[in-house]
Amino acid sequence: MKHERVTKSSVERMRADWEQRARENARYYVATSRDNWTEEEFYRSGETNLREYVLSDLENVCQDKDPKSMNVLEIGCGAGRITRALASCFGKVYAVDISAEMVRQARAALAAYPNARIFRNNGKDLSVVRESWRQRLGLAHPPEIDFAFSYIVFQHIPSREVIESYVSEVHRLLRPGGLFKFQVLGASEFTTEEPDTWVGVSFSENEARAMAARHGFEMRYCRSDRDEQYLWLWFFKRREEDLLRLGRLDLENHILQDLENVCQGKDPRQMSVLELGRGDGSMSRALGELFGRVDTIEPGQPFRRTVDFALAKDALAETSHLDNHLRQVACVLRPGGLFKCRVASGAFSGEEGRQFAQNCGFDLRHRHQWDDETWVWLFRRV
Ligand SMILES: C[S@@+](CC[C@H](N)C(=O)[O-])C[C@H]1O[C@@H](n2cnc3c(N)ncnc32)[C@H](O)[C@@H]1O
Repeated sequence: MKHERVTKSSVERMRADWEQRARENARYYVATSRDNWTEEEFYRSGETNLREYVLSDLENVCQDKDPKSMNVLEIGCGAGRITRALASCFGKVYAVDISAEMVRQARAALAAYPNARIFRNNGKDLSVVRESWRQRLGLAHPPEIDFAFSYIVFQHIPSREVIESYVSEVHRLLRPGGLFKFQVLGASEFTTEEPDTWVGVSFSENEARAMAARHGFEMRYCRSDRDEQYLWLWFFKRREEDLLRLGRLDLENHILQDLENVCQGKDPRQMSVLELGRGDGSMSRALGELFGRVDTIEPGQPFRRTVDFALAKDALAETSHLDNHLRQVACVLRPGGLFKCRVASGAFSGEEGRQFAQNCGFDLRHRHQWDDETWVWLFRRV
């Protein structure tokens, strides 16, 4: 997966471009099917979208809650086209947009809706979303969101890190079990090499699923829209009990059924373990129930302590710097210790894979592929 830092310049570029578009013809850039929307038609198109994407899906959206009791969040609300329709259905609506002019127009459109609050945000997180004016005094708390939504926004974002940041921020605000339903650009022939603020970064279904897992969501559905150009994603925030169950299942499958290789006769309580990539945190919690010490780092983050066993469940399955990460683990793993690692399908195959492992300081003893997962057993060379 290509990673880009959330640079000031990528956010500034988004803000400048959207500010200009909003001043030039906000309604057109929000919904390009017309360049001369009347106010009535423009907001009616928002009601149509609400019916298509929210009201037709109330089972997932509301989960038996009364819509009037629900807090809803919209990311990239533009001129308030859908926000207004959301505000007439749901109890409270919080909406953010990067452009001051879009926010001005959205606030005007929602002037008659005291249950809607529109914030201009920094283009990458939801720190501005607070319950009331008391936020200026630092007294207000973030609201607990029951349903989060974003339509025709992430397809314009040129940075994966910004999208990941929003996913992680929604996770912070969403209630356990709640749904974040949003749309991204799918990986197809429409995808460009150089994403910009009009055609942003794209996702394959697997990349979207991995992103959900990294941030504590279950991607329950993924459906393509309009000639496979866009993907609708349903991310449900995992509940505490689901995380515990998942962690224990992983522990059973990857550790307890393989104690001979993992522990090599050592008492697990005396062992020190390195987990690469925190993901949704379920694995580290389960590892902590078995081993004496568990440290979790993201790939590339500095780490110096010597460990007896290392594990990477999701972090290296899509990385493009595998050799660097392997060498980092080789530096801290005790000689003979196991690094058990899920990798991209096709990686480490044949003599080439064996040689690659050796060059990084490991003996590749086993490679196993089942369903769409490939795991390798790398033993630190003595
Ligand atoms: C095509 S419009 C869609 C507006 C609205 N979702 C609708 O369907 O009517 C995209 C909106 O996303 C906003 N936007 C783009 N990048 C953003 C970012 N990084 N953070 C927040 N808003 C962003 C733009 O300012 C613009 O208002």
